Amino acid sequence: MRLKDKVAIVTGATSGMGRATAVLFAREGAKVMISGRNEERAKAVVDQIKNEGFEASYILVDTSKLDDLHKIVDKTVELYGTVDILFNNAGKLSLSGVLDVSMEEWDEMFKVNVASYLKMAQLVAPIMKAKGKGVIVNTSSVAAYGAHHGFAPYVTSKHAVTGLTRSLAWELGPEIRCNEIAPGAIHTGMVDSIGGPSALQGMIDNAPLKRVGQPEDIAKVALFFATDDSAFVTGQSLKVDGGFEI
Ligand SMILES: NC(=O)c1ccc[n+]([C@@H]2O[C@H](COP(=O)([O-])OP(=O)(O)OC[C@H]3O[C@@H](n4cnc5c(N)ncnc54)[C@H](OP(=O)(O)O)[C@@H]3O)[C@@H](O)[C@H]2O)c1
Repeated sequence: MRLKDKVAIVTGATSGMGRATAVLFAREGAKVMISGRNEERAKAVVDQIKNEGFEASYILVDTSKLDDLHKIVDKTVELYGTVDILFNNAGKLSLSGVLDVSMEEWDEMFKVNVASYLKMAQLVAPIMKAKGKGVIVNTSSVAAYGAHHGFAPYVTSKHAVTGLTRSLAWELGPEIRCNEIAPGAIHTGMVDSIGGPSALQGMIDNAPLKRVGQPEDIAKVALFFATDDSAFVTGQSLKVDGGFEI
């Protein structure tokens, strides 16, 4: 029970790696606030956690609506009294390139993938600072390490997450640590939407570990960043990609 008595917010927890992380955090003793837009899937995560005897609740918030983000933190504090861990994980994929992306799509991408992470950090930081301790984990991508043809808004937004992670680490320390997980190909709905089984097989063939990642691979790294096992680590980005981007 490495997160006993801790309170965690996980955005994008209705599916994929956010869901796996919410479940693992709850199994480790945290009270978990699950956030996303899909009520059926949000309920399913909470039901799974409660059926296992652990604690979670959900709130539906579209993270592109920056003025609504306070509802996630408000509900967490109302139910659980505090926030110890924030996992900024909700993310949006775009398959547009530099010449075809519209400014509307660009703005939406930056709201969901970057601005909401900043805003959530702004909302939880005073709570964590007041208690003298807190952890923020952001999800970027291997797309934060290089350009991938045809993904300009996504690539640029994930590079920005790295800059934000480092800035949060600098400005919110010493009480708050902030680190970033940079997933490679993780088998979720998002990766399936890119190119189907052949694209996935290509990613597997091009990585030394010769398998696609599972959401639980990310959850275990999120747990490492959320606990004192990483007490002297801040401002870092860790690729979890089976070696895809060595
Ligand atoms: N899968 C990969 O290979 C991979 C690789 C690198 C990085 N990533 C990053 O990993 C993170 C999680 O993605 P995933 O692979 O686990 O995909 P996923 O299964 O599709 O999960 C995405 C999550 O984000 C939430 N979300 C998306 N847009 C939202 C919005 N506007 N407001 C609120 N919630 C929103 C979704 O919730 P609702 O559907 O309920 O709204 C869902 O819970 C993302 O940041 C993604 O960019 C994924």
